[in-house]
Amino acid sequence: MKRIVILISGRGSNMEAIVQRCADERWPAQIAAVVANRPQAAGLAFARERGIATAVVDHHAFASRDAFDAALAETIDAQRPDLVVLAGFMRILGDAFVRRYEGRMLNIHPSLLPAFPGLHTHRRAIEAGCKASGATVHFVTPQLDHGPIVMQSVVPVLAGDTEASLAERVLATEHRIYPQAVRWFIDGQLRIEGGVVRHSGGASQLLLL
Ligand code: GRF
Repeated sequence: MKRIVILISGRGSNMEAIVQRCADERWPAQIAAVVANRPQAAGLAFARERGIATAVVDHHAFASRDAFDAALAETIDAQRPDLVVLAGFMRILGDAFVRRYEGRMLNIHPSLLPAFPGLHTHRRAIEAGCKASGATVHFVTPQLDHGPIVMQSVVPVLAGDTEASLAERVLATEHRIYPQAVRWFIDGQLRIEGGVVRHSGGASQLLLL
C-alpha cells in the first residue's frame, strides 16, 4: 500500500475527491493523513469523519518560514509518505522543503500553467480576455506554480463569466483530473523526461470540456 499525505488550508474539496476515488476504485494506496496549516480548515472535519488521521501545523505559531517548514516536514515524515499532495494548500514552501519531496509532491493550480501562476487566476484570465482556462496538476519545484505538468483540464471562458462562475466550472474539472493524476503516480505510470511528464501507457493527459 502506497501512503499519501494531503495538505490543505481550507475547504478541501480536492482532498475529498481524492479520498473518494481512492475508496471507490480501491487504489493500492491509503490516505495516511490530512495536514492543515489552519486549525479552522473546513476539510479537517471531512477527514476525521472518514477516520483519516489529521494534524494541524499552524503557521502562526512559527517565527520563520524555515521553522514552519521544518515542523511541517516532521509531521509529514512521521507518516512515511510515498506521495505528498498539495490540495488548496495556501502557504509558499521554501526550497529545502520542496527539494525534500522532489518527484513525489504534486500540486493543483486553477489555471492553464504556465499562464497565471499565483493568486486571482480566474479574475486575471477574464481580464485578459482568455477564451479558455482550466486547471493544471504538476510536480512541485522551487519556483511557484511551475513544475512539470502531469495533467490539464480546459474549460471555455464564457462571455458572461464572473470570477465565481469560472472558478466553479474549473473546480469541477479539478475534481476529475487531480484524482486521476494521483492514481497515475501511485501506479508508477508517470515519468519525467527533460522536464516533461509522460504517461507510460500513453493515456491522454488532457481533459477537454
Ligand atoms: C482550488 O481551486 C485549487 O486549485 C486552488 O485552491 C482551490 C482549493 O480548493 N489551489 P479546495 O480546498 O480543494 O476545495
